[in-house]
Amino acid sequence: MDAKKTRELDAREAMAKVRASLPIFQWKKSILDTVRNSRVVIVVGETGSGKTTQIPQYIFESKMTAPTKRIAVTQPRRVAAITVAQRVAEEMGSVIGTGPVGYCVRFDDTTTPNTKLKFMTDGMLVREALLSPSLDAYSVIVLDEAHERSLQTDILFGVVKRALAVRKDLRVVVMSATLDVGLFESFFKESAPAVLRIPGRMHPVEIFYTAKALPDYLDAVLVTTLQIHLDNPDNNGSVLVFLTGQDDIETMEGLLTDYGTRLPATAAKLLVCPIFSAMPREAQMLAFEPAPRGVRKVILATNIAETSITINGVRFVVDAGLVKQRSFVGHMEHLQVESISQAQAWQRSGRAGREAPGVCYRLFPEEKFEELEPRAVPEIKRVSLEVVVLQLKVMGIDDIIGFDFIERPNTNNLLKALEKLYALGAFNTDGSLTPRGRTMASLPVDPMCAVMLLKALELGCAADALSVVAMLSVESIFYSPREQKEKAASSRAQFVSVDGDQIMLLNVFNAYNQTASKQRGKWCRDHFINHRAMQRVEKVREQLTGYLSKVAETDAVVTASALPDTVPVRKAIVAGFFLNAAMRTKSALMSKASFQTMCNAVKEDVKVHPSSVLFMRNPPPRYVVFNELVFTSKHYIRNLVPIEKDWLVEAAPQFFKKVDQMHQ
Ligand code: CDP
Ligand code: MG
Repeated sequence: MDAKKTRELDAREAMAKVRASLPIFQWKKSILDTVRNSRVVIVVGETGSGKTTQIPQYIFESKMTAPTKRIAVTQPRRVAAITVAQRVAEEMGSVIGTGPVGYCVRFDDTTTPNTKLKFMTDGMLVREALLSPSLDAYSVIVLDEAHERSLQTDILFGVVKRALAVRKDLRVVVMSATLDVGLFESFFKESAPAVLRIPGRMHPVEIFYTAKALPDYLDAVLVTTLQIHLDNPDNNGSVLVFLTGQDDIETMEGLLTDYGTRLPATAAKLLVCPIFSAMPREAQMLAFEPAPRGVRKVILATNIAETSITINGVRFVVDAGLVKQRSFVGHMEHLQVESISQAQAWQRSGRAGREAPGVCYRLFPEEKFEELEPRAVPEIKRVSLEVVVLQLKVMGIDDIIGFDFIERPNTNNLLKALEKLYALGAFNTDGSLTPRGRTMASLPVDPMCAVMLLKALELGCAADALSVVAMLSVESIFYSPREQKEKAASSRAQFVSVDGDQIMLLNVFNAYNQTASKQRGKWCRDHFINHRAMQRVEKVREQLTGYLSKVAETDAVVTASALPDTVPVRKAIVAGFFLNAAMRTKSALMSKASFQTMCNAVKEDVKVHPSSVLFMRNPPPRYVVFNELVFTSKHYIRNLVPIEKDWLVEAAPQFFKKVDQMHQ
């Protein structure tokens, strides 16, 4: 046997050993027996016990399912879907894209006709259900991370329940990291679900709180992490830090890397591993690699590392107790940093005690912990429901209010979503779906962006609209390092447009796109633009172009070159976002731009966000539409374009005739 073959065999043996050492391994037979005997199985097991990576493999290896059908494993988060698929492919000695394992997340589908084990985001499976409500391609559907209660997983509960009723060959496995599974059990009671509880192995975790609330959470994270590192020279366990999002992760990565070069000569080196969804795949996988000898790994993650993914070797957890999530406040949804629940705090601290006793530093006082909600509010009760209402309609579910939700959303929110979709032209007056509604659902963007893209097709500015939507889909295009704030601002100034923020984003995209591929990295550095973010924009744009070309039935219209005039693109934005129209108030002429929203039942006073190109504009435009409402101490509108009042009337006469008369 040649050396390469021996090495491969050794690696496979080592992998088999690792697999056999997971707590779930001893349960393999009983898991398979249960799945054979029950159409619905609920598996509860501590995070890291091997549910996600092993159970789908066991089912696949057992050959209990029809060879022509697939096994789907859903995840609420794209990073989890990708990294888990890669891990499983590796364990099976196969390669993503050719072998039996593949993943499918929005804007990135690696599955082929050979794929048998398909890891996917819950949202992608819902999209498949639009075309095939009984999910005919699958013999087993694994709904993973059910405890997370993401919006799309919740919808899938209803979808698979309907599919179970029509397909006797379908099996459903629900996997959860928390014990509390009564809701899942009672939802599936007609199928007599079997519940399997896999005991975990947990080591004690010592918890520390701060004496007082801390004003600057990033500073506290930095100090605590360095302290852990210097105080524990004999224990090179990794530190897992929970942060709120990409921005904070990147800031912390910079700070820690910088401090890392100034550590005492005797201290071990630090290896900082960020993990968040917008980063390239290979970089995501790096976080899972063991640290080299004598080096301490610091993993900077969002709450993805709470239960969705497990990185071995963690002995210290730093938890600021915060999470960034979508929430509905007043009339509009927005991203907001909020306190986690007690259950989440326990999950986070548990990550330190998987392999040995660990320590968790909660960067808030103990009294604060006592005040936290015991459990997080499920997403379906927090967010706007247009997307799911449209999806349910496309699946042929007419009575949305009567749909069998695993947990009912607020009826008022459902009605609001129905109204909004009606305003966007998705429904006829009798509530049935219009062809336009169906087309909207086929585009993987929210209904407002979908309408904007469809209007852009009509107006001949689809290429520009695609660039704008792609740019808006990515966080943090710009960055400004502390020491070079002014330089960054003046570099940004060259893209500024009086026609608004989306046009500025368009200018950035066009300038980037016109730069030769090889020069783009440098171009981004020179202009304080995040190259990774731009690469993601390119990818999103490319995929969206594909979807829109299908709708247009030709790519000629979609890829037609950009127009010098910004009016068509702004009109397209109005077509999608007219419900977010705002009008300058009288006081705006004296103070800084203040506006009042035009379409809400309650008119809200809003200010232009300081990051907007229209922030300092004097006088402010009379009418704008905005993409986003941001809540801090005040209500701010962000990403806005100035518009003409006539465009509103043109886009939605039923809404704006009245306004027109009122303000003449
Ligand atoms: O789903 P559950 O939380 O029960 O566990 P899992 O995600 O299947 O993880 C089982 C084991 O696989 C853990 O020890 C992980 O550290 C390991 N794993 C890994 O080493 N690399 C990955 N990309 C994913 C999992
Ligand atoms: Mg898992």
